[in-house]
Amino acid sequence: MYNVENIRKDFPILSCSINGKPNIFLDSAASAQKPQMVIDKIVNIYTSKYSNVHRGSYYLSEAITEEYEQSRYSVQKFLNARSPQEIVFTRNATEAINLVAFSWGRRFLTKMDEVLISEAEHHANLVPWQMLRDEIGFELKIFKINDDGSFNCEEFCKNLSGKTKLVAITGMSNVLGTVFPIKDIIKSAHEVGSKVLVDGCQYVVHHPTDVQDLDCDFLAFSGHKTYGPSGIGVLFGKAELLDAMPPYQFGGDMVNVVTYQSTTFDIPPARFEAGTPAIVQAIGLGAALEYMMNIGMNEIYEHEQNLTKYMHQQIKNIPGLQEVGTAPNKGGVFSFVLEGVHPQDLAFILDKEGVAVRVGHHCAAPLVRRMGHESLARASLGLYTNKADIDAFIRAVQKAKTFF
Ligand code: ALA
Repeated sequence: MYNVENIRKDFPILSCSINGKPNIFLDSAASAQKPQMVIDKIVNIYTSKYSNVHRGSYYLSEAITEEYEQSRYSVQKFLNARSPQEIVFTRNATEAINLVAFSWGRRFLTKMDEVLISEAEHHANLVPWQMLRDEIGFELKIFKINDDGSFNCEEFCKNLSGKTKLVAITGMSNVLGTVFPIKDIIKSAHEVGSKVLVDGCQYVVHHPTDVQDLDCDFLAFSGHKTYGPSGIGVLFGKAELLDAMPPYQFGGDMVNVVTYQSTTFDIPPARFEAGTPAIVQAIGLGAALEYMMNIGMNEIYEHEQNLTKYMHQQIKNIPGLQEVGTAPNKGGVFSFVLEGVHPQDLAFILDKEGVAVRVGHHCAAPLVRRMGHESLARASLGLYTNKADIDAFIRAVQKAKTFF
């Protein structure tokens, strides 16, 4: 039985007051809060185990190398990847997507090819492809979503062809909450010989994720949204693809033999982890994923789906509130506008009530414009969100309306 009140006790920040009010944190889609065990793990590493990884022949360095590599096993388990060698630590999901673009893309894409993305992509899964298109000359195709933010199968299929070499798609929109049918998308893409990169930033936090079952070629996600530290991200890549990819950053810890004339490179994942990595952040991420797996990803999914339904019922009752993104298959991300109130003013008033929401274009400006807006307020849920948070949010929005 999912006990959200017990789970909340694991997150010390939730009991801090904000502007003299209880902390109603509804911005987990931007960055999630950290459980005490992740904070403890980080403190413990710095206080008793810290040194550099992969370099020392002394106790501390061996101990921390083991912790760092153990964390890779936690990611492997979290994603059900075949092996830890398929897990590359990056700085964040953005860097993971850039790695695919500027290593795999530069090596394997030509100007005859097409890369297909959706209208619902975060800048991180749009801008790297624009940059690479400008360099290589392939066609970057962007398929339309429906007006409610849902996946448009017809538009996707119309744009998919033998020329498509990569489909790069979000698993769940950070603006609309739409959950995309990634398994079907991957299957269709593979049928035409295309590879698929999933931007899993929002998806993996809220869904059990099995990269073998999905059969995706690449999947990127960030640590700070999965209740771990910032400064750490993950690229999952199928072993045969990572093996064929050249490094795209160069330096220490990713080489075999270096002479003044030339260099040979290590095998993946080391080949893609140049320089001293984000050691403690990677270990903190491992702890966070273990924390989530311990609660159970199915249980987290169920809890958040129930809250999503509850949120829907509640916001329907607020006159003048327009939800942006109403796809039937949607997770706990609610973007909205309130008639007559600028989203920035709304966020300001909500903050005074202790309610944190994000406002703006959510790093997906073309998508927000495509939905007919320049700026949106967004409330997003996490595994610790409870009904009382949603009730407090609704009360704060009702109160904000009285100011205008
Ligand atoms: N991509 C993050 C968000 O949606 C920062 O807020």
